[in-house]
Amino acid sequence: MPRFPVDVQDRKEIGATGEKVSAIGLGTWNIRNPDAAVEAIVYAVELGIDNIDTAEMYGDGLAEKIVGEAIKRVGKEKVFITTKLLPHRFRSPEQAEKAMKDSLKRLGLSTVDLVLIHWPDTLVDLETQIRNLEYLAEKGYTRYIGVSNFDHNLLLEALSYTKKYEISVDQVRYSVVYKYPEVRLLPLAIEKRITIQAYTPIERGAVNRVSLLAEIGAKYGKTPVQVALNYLISRPRVIAIPKTERKERVEEFAGAMGWRLSPNDIEALEAATIRV
Ligand SMILES: NC(=O)c1ccc[n+]([C@@H]2O[C@H](COP(=O)([O-])OP(=O)(O)OC[C@H]3O[C@@H](n4cnc5c(N)ncnc54)[C@H](OP(=O)(O)O)[C@@H]3O)[C@@H](O)[C@H]2O)c1
Repeated sequence: MPRFPVDVQDRKEIGATGEKVSAIGLGTWNIRNPDAAVEAIVYAVELGIDNIDTAEMYGDGLAEKIVGEAIKRVGKEKVFITTKLLPHRFRSPEQAEKAMKDSLKRLGLSTVDLVLIHWPDTLVDLETQIRNLEYLAEKGYTRYIGVSNFDHNLLLEALSYTKKYEISVDQVRYSVVYKYPEVRLLPLAIEKRITIQAYTPIERGAVNRVSLLAEIGAKYGKTPVQVALNYLISRPRVIAIPKTERKERVEEFAGAMGWRLSPNDIEALEAATIRV
């Protein structure tokens, strides 16, 4: 049997909020063609991919503007937006507030759904960072809060500092190639009802070269990318956020939902050491 119970839901709860989003979201790092990217996001929402990940860092604010354009096209009520502020913003409430306002302006929003600390800052203690993250929720700039690139121990420490708001999400690198989060982070996330947003989930396309994924996919009429994504969303609490700015690949991502790998195939992927 697989290490974790197979999650068959294509809509997954964000933390313990009761609010659900699609098990596949869309990333926005390294956009090369802004117009194509807007079209890709709009198309993703049409196909039921309703959570978009961005960050102030991506394209130096350009990605947030692109997401803002797409929001104008689809309507905010159709989409759940996550953004990430740079670690040093969380050194004081004033710095956090300024960065948040700049980010909201680029997105064309007064409130975002979820804000994450992009990665932990090393120059200020974690309690201060969490206080200033909570401050953004208190001020109504974001509905939910979370972290990114926090390992098991850091997440546990962060959880001990929250006062009024829950940490809903930890966004980390996680793929069928890079399964390290399964050791300690994922069990903790399942226990604490924290959503894991898996980034670089298709290893920037390299999963296409993995013969095991092709062999398994052939049984289901699915591509290696779809098998790699399905593996992730079959885990409780895990949402995958692959990136593309091509509509045909958006379709491929959407086709990773609506079915599940068998427990045997999940087990085989779990046990495999895959190099790309
Ligand atoms: N929190 C963090 O520190 C962090 C770090 C990294 C990423 N992220 C987030 O997670 C998202 C996804 O991660 P990622 O962008 O690093 O990697 P990824 O989703 O694994 O791969 C995206 C790359 O693969 C290409 N691609 C997409 N579909 C493909 C396919 N079917 N065949 C071949 N290539 C394909 C894309 O190019 P095209 O656009 O041309 O399709 C893009 O260059 C990011 O966009 C970002 O939102 C967060």
